[in-house]
Amino acid sequence: MKHIKPPAEPFRIKMVEKIRPTTRRERDIVLREAGYNVFNIPAEKVYIDLLTDSGTSAMSDNQWSGLLIGDESYAGAKNFFHLESVVKNIFCFNHVIPTHQGRAAERILFEALVKKGDFVPNNIHFDTTRANVEIRGAQPVDLVIEEAYNPDSDYPFKGNMDIERLKKFIDKKGPERIPLVMITITNNSGGGQPVSVRNIKEVSQVCKQHGIPLFFDACRFAENAYFIKKREKGYEHKTILEITQEIFSYGQGATMSAKKDALVNIGGFIALDDDLLAEKLKNLLILSEGFPTYGGLAGRDLEAIARGLEEVLEEDYLEYRVNQVAYLGQLLDNAGVPIFKPVGGHAVYLLADRFLPHIPRHQYPGWALTVALYREAGIRAVEIGGVMFAHKDKKTGKEIFPQLELVRLAIPRRVYTGAHLEYVAEAIIDLYKNRDKIRGLRIVRESPHLRHFTVRMEEI
Ligand code: F0G
Repeated sequence: MKHIKPPAEPFRIKMVEKIRPTTRRERDIVLREAGYNVFNIPAEKVYIDLLTDSGTSAMSDNQWSGLLIGDESYAGAKNFFHLESVVKNIFCFNHVIPTHQGRAAERILFEALVKKGDFVPNNIHFDTTRANVEIRGAQPVDLVIEEAYNPDSDYPFKGNMDIERLKKFIDKKGPERIPLVMITITNNSGGGQPVSVRNIKEVSQVCKQHGIPLFFDACRFAENAYFIKKREKGYEHKTILEITQEIFSYGQGATMSAKKDALVNIGGFIALDDDLLAEKLKNLLILSEGFPTYGGLAGRDLEAIARGLEEVLEEDYLEYRVNQVAYLGQLLDNAGVPIFKPVGGHAVYLLADRFLPHIPRHQYPGWALTVALYREAGIRAVEIGGVMFAHKDKKTGKEIFPQLELVRLAIPRRVYTGAHLEYVAEAIIDLYKNRDKIRGLRIVRESPHLRHFTVRMEEI
């Protein structure tokens, strides 16, 4: 087995937040009270929190100092103009519309563009994107390449859209029923896998031929750009900024959750070229988010986003970031723990159905693994499998399960050290050795939409 080391952090720590391990007994009680749903666990009772990389980043001294120069004017705050110029430089779109987070950007964009009976193709929709399409009475369609569903394929761009399927789909449904095409970079619901420039260019050409606008779900655009630099021929000598500028040059706009690659705890935006559409979006924004120069955020938040977007392009940061995630993946893989390969940009995904082959899909092996991981080690992860994504057959009511049964270990940015990741790896390896003891669950109570957030379970 080759000896591997965590990447050295390109920062030092000048403020710390205490985290406290709990006892197994305590965690047993917490789990029972939480209805065996880790979303219901108070964060203080979690030792290492890998629930999400969203809004959990540590800000830099530069970002924190930016908060002090927040201009809290209702209209035209100077921080908006800073954010606007940074976004224009990276994304190269004419209009920048702040929102309080990514899903607000989605909701407003779809409210303006999507109507009943429409279809919205994506490589794979994230759950809020999917729900925001559905609530318009339209249908979200996932058109990612076949390799995306094969956890053993080492294809370098498993987030790519299947161009032939996209063409056929447009021919079948007609471009007038497809108000936009989206590409999610990196593809979160498919293992945090990148999309290549070549693929983006091809999608863009198909869209152009049919007059369909192409939008990016851009949450993790910098991590995607770093993968392009490392894996795509012709990009090894380009800067991350040059790569992002090229990516976005192929589209007409983007929705962004700043809670990921803008390295902040709250925020988002829409960026786009179309003047008329921008006008419409701003009017919708005023109804729910606020005036177009703040969009539901404080001036200080806008400043932190602007500064975060500048920092996320730094290559030493991205190298550390992507390698930290890869390091955790490597520790697990070396010990034979089944993981999705190659390791994605923001998370390691465990293959729960292979980890727990004795638990059938209708007893939710991924969910069972999140419960076991918390109980044994105080680690919080999230199931991306049967509970999150199963849909019910309209006639029989029987659950139809998604192809992959995953547990995501999302790594917050600049938060945990190499030693923390080693603790996580050891805990999972121990759990894998004792996997026979892990039990399945049944649902006690569930809601009809996005049930994973509120479902209550019991162990079988
Ligand atoms: N698109 C993608 C690809 C996402 O991963 C997320 C959020 C959103 C849109 C929505 O952004 O949370 O700011 O409203 N993903 C988080 C996650 C929640 O845990 O993966 P938001």
